[in-house]
Amino acid sequence: MTRVPVVLWAVLAAAVAMAAPPCTVASRVHDIDPDAAPEYVLLDTAWRLPPGYAPRDLVPISGAGFDGGLLVRAIVLDDLRSLREAAEAAGVRLAVQSAYRSEAYQARVHAGWVERLGAARAAEVSARPGHSEHQLGTAVDLRSADGPPAWELDDWAATPEGSWVAAHAADHGFVVSYPRDARDATCYDYEPWHLRWVGRAAASAARDEGVPYRVWLHRHHPPVEAAP
Ligand code: DAL
Ligand code: ZN
Repeated sequence: MTRVPVVLWAVLAAAVAMAAPPCTVASRVHDIDPDAAPEYVLLDTAWRLPPGYAPRDLVPISGAGFDGGLLVRAIVLDDLRSLREAAEAAGVRLAVQSAYRSEAYQARVHAGWVERLGAARAAEVSARPGHSEHQLGTAVDLRSADGPPAWELDDWAATPEGSWVAAHAADHGFVVSYPRDARDATCYDYEPWHLRWVGRAAASAARDEGVPYRVWLHRHHPPVEAAP
């Protein structure tokens, strides 16, 4: 038998551990109640929220000191405020570009991308209705307070605001769901502006393991389909 160096085994083992299941297209619904444990609801091209799901505790982001009437779940407010205040203390001013999106609104957003890019490419930048983390009411798209929507820049993470968020989001309970060069693991293009609130324990654990949140969920809270 060919002898494989120990170091190669270590690399292979790390690659297997890093891998997440492939990004299949399906419409599977979890057995987790998104009202009770939104942080453990994995949403990707296969897994979706129960049809018509809407959170019941949506509140305006002004409660976290941000301008505008966009909505998030009340459970996100304290950490969203702490993120904003810590950023401001570091001389970084953030704004929220998008927050809660209903299934119907996501359908319109997604249809717009399909019209612009075609269905195949749209699927890489926009979740189908029912599949978006924005429908959980716990995701926000950030931008620099003085800047355009972050997706209009080459790389928002290269700005002071984006770079601060990349370094500190987890301290405040948020993960960057779609990090750079991770499309196979996350199912979507790089989105340095898209933060999902998962609470400080889960956010720090995923950061410490150095894997995208989808991979961390598959590893620690693998999705189980609800009984029909
Ligand atoms: N852009 C992300 C994937 C969404 O549509 O929720
Ligand atoms: Zn987003």
